[in-house]
Amino acid sequence: MKKISLTGIQATGDPHIGNYFGAIKPAIELAKTYDARYFIADYHSLNKIKDAKQLSANIREVAACWLAAGLDPHNTLFYRQSSIPEVFELSTMLMAFTAKGLMNRAHAYKAAVQANNEKGSDPDAGVNMGLYTYPILMAADILIFDSDVVPVGKDQTQHIEIMQDIAQAVNANYKQQVFKIPEGVISAEVGEIPGLDGRKMSKSYGNGIPIFSPEKELRKLIMRIVTNSQGVDEPKDPDTCLIFTFYKLFATKEEQAALASRLRAGGMGWGEAKEELFRVVNRELSPMREKFNTLMADPAGLDKLLAQGAEEARPIASAVIKRFRRAAGIE
Ligand code: TRP
Repeated sequence: MKKISLTGIQATGDPHIGNYFGAIKPAIELAKTYDARYFIADYHSLNKIKDAKQLSANIREVAACWLAAGLDPHNTLFYRQSSIPEVFELSTMLMAFTAKGLMNRAHAYKAAVQANNEKGSDPDAGVNMGLYTYPILMAADILIFDSDVVPVGKDQTQHIEIMQDIAQAVNANYKQQVFKIPEGVISAEVGEIPGLDGRKMSKSYGNGIPIFSPEKELRKLIMRIVTNSQGVDEPKDPDTCLIFTFYKLFATKEEQAALASRLRAGGMGWGEAKEELFRVVNRELSPMREKFNTLMADPAGLDKLLAQGAEEARPIASAVIKRFRRAAGIE
């Protein structure tokens, strides 16, 4: 039996290459050797997005994004969290095993409280219960499918630890293995991808490279990458330049070696290096962009595909709920 890999995808719009290399690509890679269960965490997204049009557009966009990036619905269960009511039942059951203090210590909640304190506002201003209990729903997402590994970005490490804590509390209470204890797989290779200005790539900084920008736009963004003021003739250090950092993500080893030696030799300006970077970025992104546009043109087809995934996933979820209910004396 293959091991199970599971991950959740927030329905935030406009995925950038930080999401692609930090989350999407490694998870799709894992799906080749694991029994993969990947879903759109639309109830998690509801905590932030209260505009109905925007949320429903984001859900389809993120589904199309993963499919365009290579998720194969024939080898991966691909569904919407909201289509699996068992997840929410499990979430309620897990609440009984989750210390409130554990939620108080969760990073996202703590950061919101700290920001309020700094502004002199009420500590819980703007904090909804969905944000506060976010890690419990995430634990339910993971535990409901008997997952073995959970590929996530570094920022999710604490959520994984909380999930393990909750699962262990349940197992310890009933003195049996109600839940397998899954492990996080943190995408180590890429770590934090810098933005166009060298800071961490983030929507809030507006320094991202969106995966599906039209070709012209993509070129413009790449030309905006911050460099130093060295002239064309000067020898340049690839290891301290942002262009090369991006180049390594998209280029083959041979291409990397060739560009590094041209930069070191002098005679290559930043403009030319950016053109070369654009070439390799566009080589990888343009087929994805085309596939994405085709998928987005058929929303009914996308919905159907996700509904099929949910249909296959539900019996698995329902078996896990039964197991927990039996252990808990609620039959
Ligand atoms: N919290 C994750 C993120 O923001 C999304 C998520 C929700 C998730 N449920 C999950 C990830 C379950 C892994 C497993 O990226």
